[in-house]
Amino acid sequence: MSKLEFAGKSVVITGAAAGMGKAITINFLKNGATVVAVDINGNALDELSRELKDNYSEDIVKNFIPFVGDISNQEVNEAMIERAISATGEINVLVNNAGVAGHSEPITETTNEDWNRIININLNGPMYAIRATVNKMIKQKNGGNIVTIASVAGIKGCRSSVAYSVAKHGLVGLCEHTAYAYMHQGIRSNIVCPGAIRTGMISKPELESEFGRSRIMSGMDPQFVFGDTSDISEAVVYLASDRAKFINGAKLVVDGGISCN
Ligand SMILES: NC(=O)c1ccc[n+]([C@@H]2O[C@H](COP(=O)([O-])OP(=O)(O)OC[C@H]3O[C@@H](n4cnc5c(N)ncnc54)[C@H](O)[C@@H]3O)[C@@H](O)[C@H]2O)c1
Repeated sequence: MSKLEFAGKSVVITGAAAGMGKAITINFLKNGATVVAVDINGNALDELSRELKDNYSEDIVKNFIPFVGDISNQEVNEAMIERAISATGEINVLVNNAGVAGHSEPITETTNEDWNRIININLNGPMYAIRATVNKMIKQKNGGNIVTIASVAGIKGCRSSVAYSVAKHGLVGLCEHTAYAYMHQGIRSNIVCPGAIRTGMISKPELESEFGRSRIMSGMDPQFVFGDTSDISEAVVYLASDRAKFINGAKLVVDGGISCN
């Protein structure tokens, strides 16, 4: 594999300052891409910027473009795509990664506030981003790639809170629709469904409720298998590369096998 597979390409990554987004950002930078790294947490982006300067060459660091914004806001999504175009002339890859976990509530315990917050960030945000990206890619006339991080909760109904599960199932539909609707324009749209990956997200109390402990984990191997952020970043970079040129609308489960029960 060429180390600079994405040289000259622009990549927008949401939720880029931590967890999987950070690993995906560094992986694309190492492969030569210009990365617009979008995150709501400006301090974490500053920290990532310092980390890159301390550990990587100027060739890599100069291609890192931090962008502070909340992806539940439509204008932020449009502006981040414009930022990529102003950097390289085109938007070539979008990675919808940012997301938040709720607790583990079933529907009877779900407040409108929690529902709206999770749907706005985890589903509406990626919809705004994909719409803005595809509009630009159609005009560019040379295709492009969209990779969206859903979850095993996007293919199984009961692995998280109802709002999270609905948002992630929605992402699968959104991305399959996009894959089919724009295949003749050379725009590919694929989905990565992680299982449990060691990040800040799962140190939060996702499984703290009685429902979470007793129902979500039921039938699952009690010796939970955890993956690393690099397991996800490798999958994302592969799907966005020309090596995956005939893969479109796929749901790639990256979970060590836990969802096979
Ligand atoms: N960690 C897991 O086990 C796991 C499993 C399946 C799916 N996922 C999904 O993977 C993705 C990444 O998760 P992670 O574990 O790396 O999370 P994380 O909490 O470690 O990092 C998420 C990043 O997104 C940013 N972010 C949150 N809300 C944002 C917003 N509104 N606008 C912009 N940025 C925002 C955060 O500041 C943070 O930097 C999410 O979509 C998550 O649902 C995670």
